[in-house]
Amino acid sequence: MSDVIFQAENIVKHFGGVHAVEDVSLSVIAGSIQAIIGPNGAGKSTLFNALSGFYKCDSGKVTFKGVDITTAPIHRRIAMGMGRTFQTSSIFPNLSVYDNLLIGLQSAANLAFRFRPVDATQHKTIEEKAERLLDFVNLKASAHRPVAELAHGSQRLCEIAMSLSTDPVLVMLDEPMAGLAHAETTRVVEVIRKLHSELGLTVLFVEHNMRVVLSLAQRIMVLDRGRVLAEGTPAEISANEAVRDAYIGKEVIESV
Ligand SMILES: Nc1ncnc2c1ncn2[C@@H]1O[C@H](COP(=O)(O)OP(=O)(O)O)[C@@H](O)[C@H]1O
Ligand SMILES: [Mg+2]
Repeated sequence: MSDVIFQAENIVKHFGGVHAVEDVSLSVIAGSIQAIIGPNGAGKSTLFNALSGFYKCDSGKVTFKGVDITTAPIHRRIAMGMGRTFQTSSIFPNLSVYDNLLIGLQSAANLAFRFRPVDATQHKTIEEKAERLLDFVNLKASAHRPVAELAHGSQRLCEIAMSLSTDPVLVMLDEPMAGLAHAETTRVVEVIRKLHSELGLTVLFVEHNMRVVLSLAQRIMVLDRGRVLAEGTPAEISANEAVRDAYIGKEVIESV
């Protein structure tokens, strides 16, 4: 299908005897929001790391924009438009949100310009872009505060803004709502929705919170013990007996 932007076929990743990901296939339609759910230890993060190039797949094939990227290094994937959230550890907690964004954008520009020094015009462009990203994630008011002082939700938004510094067309988020209080979850959900509705980006995210998944995702894949248990629309997944039986409390789905 021509509108599939990202495809994984028969991905396998073992850690010694642990079959973390076993024969998982996935297709993501350009411009859609797709979620991966599953209980703890299901293999969600391992699959994510295998898809983003952080881990080498034992076998299987990954295609992005029609190009086989199974063995492509991370920087090449980023140059092609694959983005994923920076781990909190790659954010400088004592620097401001704005300075972190400048550093992210500066290194993205360095890659794009093949390490030629960035001139004054480019620097101006970088500052304007940092302002736009701050505005996009609604962090303008906190722009000059150290990231470490922000609420967790704002830190998560800062990570999302930084992942946009490389101009991705596909954004991959591993549990963007983990550990957030309800109000903060809402702020992050709104920004993820805007990635899709305002920027037209494709979003692939791993999430635990069923309420979030069912309200945000257009397609959902359920992983269980490294394998695909089900795949479909929110309505199909909510109605899927195997999914209900496997781990999702019936009451969780019915209360959405
Ligand atoms: N680096 C690793 N080394 C060894 N085992 C791992 C590693 N990462 C994950 N695992 C194991 O692989 C399985 C899947 O883990 P993970 O992908 O983190 O699941 P999830 O993100 O769905 O909670 C678990 O049994 C976990 O213990
Ligand atoms: Mg995980």
